[in-house]
Amino acid sequence: MTNPVFLALDLPRLDAAVALAGKVRGHVGGLKLGLEFFCAHGHHGVHELAQLGMPIFLDLKLHDIPNTVARAMQAIHVLEPAIVTIHAAGGRAMMEDAKAAAGERCKVVAVTLLTSMDDADLAQTGVGGSAHDQVLRLADLAQEAGVDGIVCSGHEVAAVHQRWKNGFLVVPGLRPADSLPGNRAGDQKRVVTPRAARDAGASVLVIGRPITRAADPLAAARAIEATL
Ligand code: C5P
Repeated sequence: MTNPVFLALDLPRLDAAVALAGKVRGHVGGLKLGLEFFCAHGHHGVHELAQLGMPIFLDLKLHDIPNTVARAMQAIHVLEPAIVTIHAAGGRAMMEDAKAAAGERCKVVAVTLLTSMDDADLAQTGVGGSAHDQVLRLADLAQEAGVDGIVCSGHEVAAVHQRWKNGFLVVPGLRPADSLPGNRAGDQKRVVTPRAARDAGASVLVIGRPITRAADPLAAARAIEATL
């Protein structure tokens, strides 16, 4: 079984990102590079990390008119990313065009709702109903549009997996059980562990700070790998 963990390299310095990725290589399945990294280091930064020979996940959350998103997908094609994110809220045509432009070997994954948005934030944007309903609505739209899957939280992954059996489900916001302060019961209830997300149907586990900010990142990556 290939390792489902993609390490979120949310570090400002390219040399530090390359060094850290090299350290944990072999104990994570791939590298996730976000908008901040891409704006700071561009294609050059991606090339540097690609030298390590691991799959690259470009978390760019593209959202624009269909033609612009398709052209952006074509522009990053040379980087041969394994996974690219777009926003499901861009609509069905945008998702269809993004998938068509991505090429066979790149998974296109739609972000449903940013976890920074709650019911009140949604209402302010004119969307009625709960955040949970909005996630499921956009997950269904993404499936109809023919993209590979969606990004969802560890709390939603089981419900999405039920509706989309072969969906490629990317789950961030995970915390290993032993990283919880004092392992308090209250924290345990809210936090989803990598293993629990995997068991609930996650295809990819996005993990950043539990590894990048660990005193010993290699030991942290190994410990997570051992639970999977
Ligand atoms: O929290 P952590 O450092 O593990 O986050 C890893 C990645 O997952 C980050 O790039 C962050 O943007 C993303 N994330 C997310 N939703 C959350 C928590 C983190 O998309 N609730």
